[in-house]
Amino acid sequence: MVVSVAATGPGTDAEPVRSTFFASRYVRDELPRYRMPERSIPREAAYQIINDELMLDGNPRLNLASFVTTWMEPECDKLIMDSINKNYVDMDEYPVTTELQNRCVNMIAHLFNAPIQEDETAIGVGTVGSSEAIMLAGLAFKRKWQNKRKEQGKPCDKPNIVTGANVQVCWEKFARYFEVELKEVKLSEGYYVMDPEKAIEMVDENTICVAAILGSTLTGEFEDVKKLNDLLVEKNKETGWDVPIHVDAASGGFIAPFLYPELEWDFRLPLVKSINVSGHKYGLVYAGVGWVIWRSKEDLPEELIFHINYLGTDQPTFTLNFSKGSSQIIAQYYQLIRLGFEGYKSIMENCMENTSILREGLAATDRFEIVSKNSGVPLVAFSLKDSSAFTVFDISENLRRFGWIVPAYTMPPNAEHVAVLRVVVREDFSRSLAERLVSDIVKVLHELDARAAHAVKVASVAVAQSDDGVVAGKSVMEIQREIATRWRKAVDKKKTGPC
Ligand SMILES: Cc1ncc(COP(=O)(O)O)c(C=O)c1O
Repeated sequence: MVVSVAATGPGTDAEPVRSTFFASRYVRDELPRYRMPERSIPREAAYQIINDELMLDGNPRLNLASFVTTWMEPECDKLIMDSINKNYVDMDEYPVTTELQNRCVNMIAHLFNAPIQEDETAIGVGTVGSSEAIMLAGLAFKRKWQNKRKEQGKPCDKPNIVTGANVQVCWEKFARYFEVELKEVKLSEGYYVMDPEKAIEMVDENTICVAAILGSTLTGEFEDVKKLNDLLVEKNKETGWDVPIHVDAASGGFIAPFLYPELEWDFRLPLVKSINVSGHKYGLVYAGVGWVIWRSKEDLPEELIFHINYLGTDQPTFTLNFSKGSSQIIAQYYQLIRLGFEGYKSIMENCMENTSILREGLAATDRFEIVSKNSGVPLVAFSLKDSSAFTVFDISENLRRFGWIVPAYTMPPNAEHVAVLRVVVREDFSRSLAERLVSDIVKVLHELDARAAHAVKVASVAVAQSDDGVVAGKSVMEIQREIATRWRKAVDKKKTGPC
């Protein structure tokens, strides 16, 4: 790519006149990494240097690791660019943007069956994502619990949250940052979500909430919130406690209402007091927007709301950050009114159909165990039936050559020995891409088979050439076992989960 440069630029007094050139010709020295450079460079050069480096990033559309939206309609892209310079927090200056946020909150609250009248304003707020939403919901639970314990003259310094070990990392962040113990229900092989009965056993008088996940990050499975609610109602009755439920519907919040309208997981259940959802996942907006909705005013302690007098008006805010962009909120409103219930339903159905095609293609290879269920978040999590010659991590690594980004990870306690690959099916992952991915996975399997067979052949030849059937004191069997052990070690090193 070639850039054109003005004869002189800011700070370039003695700049020779050049018409067009590669930015790399302009920047002959190493690019500054630690200190800001003394001199300016032409904007075209800056653009090209950065753009060239960014070419080495993966292609977002082929990033099947992420739930986050990577395609929106051009009209919405335009709205986003038109509002890129609006600071959301300047509510007095941008009252329409604030109004759009409130409309989104109302629509999402109705979608989640909040007990509000048709024209009543719902209680909720737009956030940067589900992580911020969860921090806010968690803080509200903590403060409510503390207030009650203080009223009762009881200690309030050891709050805990009960959740599954499949919880997303943001819950661990919340626990550490806001000093709440996370009591995790362990998983087991074949059961990768929180068992409601085990969760109830872990609840005690210091439990500020039980967090259920609607769409586990690991397998997409919906946890049984209804059963949890019913068991907790009983436990609260027996003990006189008042333990509530939060639903982390980061992915499932924009899926369940459209695909499983009969499923009771939301404010229809009396103990569900707050719900978060990522607008940037199946809410179909680019990264940077989430939502938290409370059941009622009583569930959000008033003292957590800041009333600031900013640029002339009183602004109630309950967020962790102050300034942020407006574009994502505007984009969320666009999607809600542009697609409507019908549009979201059709997109989610299409995602599920493409998930089935992928799942069937993978099952047909007879090499994989499908770990995810047929319902829930449209994704396929699958493990190798036989990992003796190579592992899911090798498949993941080799798929990168085709451009695909497919994460491999081990499950949390107590299912760490299970390693899976996961493909998230988003709106922009079409049927033809699903078919293409299966055929590339098959190619990778063949290559890895051939490589493993070659390694064994080399070992066998070495043994055959030796006098006594051993090489350096090792038999063929021992060499094969050594190869398998090496693969296993590679698996053990990769302990981190998906994001
Ligand atoms: C279940 C769950 N909760 C929370 C999060 C965090 O969401 P965000 O990236 O919107 O902060 C994720 C992200 O994948 C998730 O899957």
